[in-house]
Amino acid sequence: MTGAPPFLPLAVRSSMIPADIIQEIKDRAEIEDVVGDFVGLKRRGSNLLGLCPFHTEKTPSFTVNPARNFFKCFGCQRSGDPISFVMEHEHYSYPEALAYLAKKYGIKIPEDSPDQAANEAGQHKESLYIVLQFAEQFYRDQLNKSEEGIQIAKSYLKEREIWAQGEEDFKLGYAPGGWDTFVKEATGKGYKENFLIDAGLAIKKESGGLIDRFRERVMFPIHSLSGRCLGFGGRTMKNDKKEAKYLNSPETELYHKSEILYGIYQARRAIKTQDMCYMTEGYMDVIMLHQKGLAHVVAASGTSLTEGHLRLVRRYTDNICFVFDGDKAGIKAALRAIDLALEEGFNVKALALPQGEDPDSFARRREPPEIQAYFEEQSTDFIQFKAQLLMPQAGDDPLKKWEVLQQIVQSISLVNNGLKRILFIQKTAKMLGIGEEVLMGELNKQMPRVLEHKGKKWLDDEKEVAKGRPPGSDPVEGHPKSTAEFRQGLVAQHETYLVRFILKFGHLMYDDEKMETVAEHVLAFLEEYDAYPDNEQLGMVLKEYQVHVESWGVVDIDGFLRHPDETLRKTAQGFLTDRFEASVHWTKRIGMEIKEDNGYKRNMERVIHRYKLALVQRMIHHILQTIQALPEGEGPEAEALEVETKLYIKLLENRRQIAANLGIVVM
Ligand code: CTP
Ligand code: MN
Repeated sequence: MTGAPPFLPLAVRSSMIPADIIQEIKDRAEIEDVVGDFVGLKRRGSNLLGLCPFHTEKTPSFTVNPARNFFKCFGCQRSGDPISFVMEHEHYSYPEALAYLAKKYGIKIPEDSPDQAANEAGQHKESLYIVLQFAEQFYRDQLNKSEEGIQIAKSYLKEREIWAQGEEDFKLGYAPGGWDTFVKEATGKGYKENFLIDAGLAIKKESGGLIDRFRERVMFPIHSLSGRCLGFGGRTMKNDKKEAKYLNSPETELYHKSEILYGIYQARRAIKTQDMCYMTEGYMDVIMLHQKGLAHVVAASGTSLTEGHLRLVRRYTDNICFVFDGDKAGIKAALRAIDLALEEGFNVKALALPQGEDPDSFARRREPPEIQAYFEEQSTDFIQFKAQLLMPQAGDDPLKKWEVLQQIVQSISLVNNGLKRILFIQKTAKMLGIGEEVLMGELNKQMPRVLEHKGKKWLDDEKEVAKGRPPGSDPVEGHPKSTAEFRQGLVAQHETYLVRFILKFGHLMYDDEKMETVAEHVLAFLEEYDAYPDNEQLGMVLKEYQVHVESWGVVDIDGFLRHPDETLRKTAQGFLTDRFEASVHWTKRIGMEIKEDNGYKRNMERVIHRYKLALVQRMIHHILQTIQALPEGEGPEAEALEVETKLYIKLLENRRQIAANLGIVVM
């Protein structure tokens, strides 16, 4: 049994809310109502739309779905239920958010909740958060109020030129000496021993007692996206080579080092507004750059970069720049990180600092404008970086040079956008004075390996394209049924095709002269027809796609496959299990210089026409019903009949034209 500790911060008290009360809060809290307290919302169909409170935007992409009791921003990707909205918006903890909502809905939380509430699922995690929050404050107080902290740690930070503001922003602290100073303080306040262990703050001795994990170290709390402490890094102030410079929290229920980036909480807004994320190596790098006005900086804190890290960055930007020390160490890891980021669909840059500098030392000695200028002007794209790094090593040896080229092309092959790959090949060719065809040939040689590596098949759709119909389609003409249901079914079926098509082929060129992509063409058509998928999931995918096109011109298809929103991700994955085929198809074509093959264009026309046809058929069905239902008579009734009939005739003509385009006859 987890009994309540005697001295509880408010947060702990409210976390003792009984399960049935939590359920009542969940049942009663309406997303429309909760969000409405903070955001101006306008109705848009079955949803509501407003300006996102979590990122700056001019056109609204923040949607509220009352039916699913769910909000979702298509700009910054945040989504969730009423509780998570309040947590995020008000920076509340889970229990605080519950308390807020309970108050709003007049739900009474009993003062002294029964103990069993403490055993609720999630309670353990919540307790760890609370213990970590306590530890964060404890270490801060030690730094600022204890004699030892002020004398040793405060002066160390001063020496390293960490300012009060930086210290505050990153909540730096000090873990005092002694074996169990923290443990004593925490258990004395009623925090259970097992929570201290599970939070990674204390270690059990063989003799049974607990000791502090962090002793005599400057403490760097590692924060979640919402600013809660997940764990710590602790730096020794000794110059003892035997002692690890940094000691980090172990993996816990809350702290997963492969999924959190140091500084992401402090950097996320800047990453979003600057549309760029600088990736450094360590704690000090982040803090120093932050102090010097470069706030869009994070660090993987001594672990190698993972997909999880990149997924975090992806929430805010598609642009990433790796910042490297001016020495050789870590270069191999750097190249690996670059390839990983390319594979994840990022626009990748790299920045090398002058010899002997790391971001911390570099920024410490310079003023913000100089730092900013250096970061902006000296960062190069990954090709240049690889070439500059590897070419000198190859010297005059043609074989070695070729190996470097292969390595560069290999990175290019990881870029999952055909158009971008071509542009990179062109760039490499120009930069190194090598024929484009040669590089293209090498790329084409490497692509199948990449595809195999990804386990992707693209032949199936190729076969369907050869049959002259859109991927995944089956013939629909001549269907015997003609009910409203059937009409509705057709629209549903074709809107599925359309969205699938746009996901798969959207990035390809539709009109070379106008520089119009397939996506832009389809989106323009939808606007013109004022058509929007009935199916909500498809609507979400399309809307998301549109936001991407409007913001960046290009859509990173891979981003959909790793989208933080589960519905979106699942829908896209359903469509895109063979996502590579389109680009490969195109690359192959370009490589072979067969420019006339417009298979996907023809198919796109068909997809659009079929969707149009389905829409028109449905309208015709509706209008016939309206006409039949009109009462007979003169005056207004006759007028109405005339209007409807005119529309009906127009629609018939419209249908005839679409059918002619499709080369079919509609009964
Ligand atoms: N690191 C670690 N454990 C170590 C050494 C390093 O976790 N024993 C991580 C830390 O996150 C550190 C990063 O790797 O910030 C980079 O290491 P390093 O370059 O050695 O440290 P700096 O960040 O330069 O630290 P400082 O400036 O304080 O010496
Ligand atoms: Mn350093």
